[in-house]
Amino acid sequence: MRMRAAVLEQFGQPLVVQELDLEEPKAGEVLVRLVACGVCHTDMYTASGVDPSGYAPTVLGHEGAGVVEAVGEGVDALQVGDHVVTLFSPQCRECVHCVSPKTNICLAIRDQQGKGYLPDGTARLSRDGEPIRHFMGTSTFAEYTVMPQIALAKVSPEAPLDRACLFACGLSTGLGAAMYTAKVEAGSTVVVFGAGMVGLGAVAGARLQGAGRIVCVDLSDERLAMARHQGATDTLAGGPDAVESILELTGGVGADYTIEATGLVAVMRQAVESARVGWGLATMCGVAGKGETLDVIPRYLITGRRIAGSSFGGVKGRDQVPLLVQRYLDGEIDVDAFLSHRITLDEVNAGFDLMHAQDGIRSVIEFA
Ligand SMILES: NC(=O)c1ccc[n+]([C@@H]2O[C@H](COP(=O)([O-])OP(=O)(O)OC[C@H]3O[C@@H](n4cnc5c(N)ncnc54)[C@H](O)[C@@H]3O)[C@@H](O)[C@H]2O)c1
Ligand SMILES: [Zn+2]
Ligand SMILES: [Zn+2]
Repeated sequence: MRMRAAVLEQFGQPLVVQELDLEEPKAGEVLVRLVACGVCHTDMYTASGVDPSGYAPTVLGHEGAGVVEAVGEGVDALQVGDHVVTLFSPQCRECVHCVSPKTNICLAIRDQQGKGYLPDGTARLSRDGEPIRHFMGTSTFAEYTVMPQIALAKVSPEAPLDRACLFACGLSTGLGAAMYTAKVEAGSTVVVFGAGMVGLGAVAGARLQGAGRIVCVDLSDERLAMARHQGATDTLAGGPDAVESILELTGGVGADYTIEATGLVAVMRQAVESARVGWGLATMCGVAGKGETLDVIPRYLITGRRIAGSSFGGVKGRDQVPLLVQRYLDGEIDVDAFLSHRITLDEVNAGFDLMHAQDGIRSVIEFA
């Protein structure tokens, strides 16, 4: 079939919206008609060319939600008409990682996905007969996508898809960092660094876990106000004094949990240093720049602090994204507050500009 998609032709250049060919779903694959797709930092990061594993041409986009239009042979988990959220982090339910409760990092299709292909090592996207590689296994800056069924979460048809799409990356990453990676305990003290989509999600996740005190740190007053709306009990201006301020707020011992959602290695270090002596857990969500390293004084670890990394918030996508979406439908998470701008596919580059200017939390592409 023919469909419109936003193609990264060359790094550092605007995406070009154009018609491409999309093949039918093969065995285990599903054709999804996209209804909405958020614009995330990772799309912009890849488009800029600084991601060493990036490639072009490709169709970017990974925060998608839509409706199943057709299924390939052997697809048993989804039917035509199902509402789905795309998962750049799949869940095969069979590999050694999927059967362990310790991780959400599925091993089933990692290699091919990283190279830009579907699990059988080929692409469904093409232009004039030339294959075009997929991005993050999703390529959702497009009217349609073909993805393996293990990378689609079936969500309640009651969830508006323009909000459900935020669960495909940023929101689930933040919620999950607090709920599944850190497993925040009721009554505890949590500090979240960063109040973008991920940090605000972490604030909401800490609230859902029953945290007693939630401190959010950011540079923007507007974003700190949003953090209070999502459940932060205290807010702080970020900067070199943040650790000292957190120690002051916590009687000198630090927070039970700290969650980093800025992508800045200096802030990651603050997250370690403001975690509680004895048992503080510092969870890192941010993606640092190429070649950057995190500086940790070993004494902080010997005295009982721990560090965890969190990819997609530790969320096992097919099992847990539907549960998170249900909590939104039950009125427990205000997702509307994150949807700042609605744009069309043709305006995708404006979505990057808004993100660059830190205008709003998320721009969402709506497909007509
Ligand atoms: N681990 C994952 O699976 C995953 C998924 C999505 C995004 N991410 C990463 O998470 C990070 C956050 O994403 P986002 O969409 O929320 O980004 P964002 O840019 O919207 O938010 C980052 C926030 O950090 C704040 N900040 C900057 N300097 C600060 C400081 N010194 N102290 C405190 N706050 C400071 C900014 O004001 C901003 O509000 C990015 O690095 C992104 O790439 C990771
Ligand atoms: Zn993302
Ligand atoms: Zn797996």
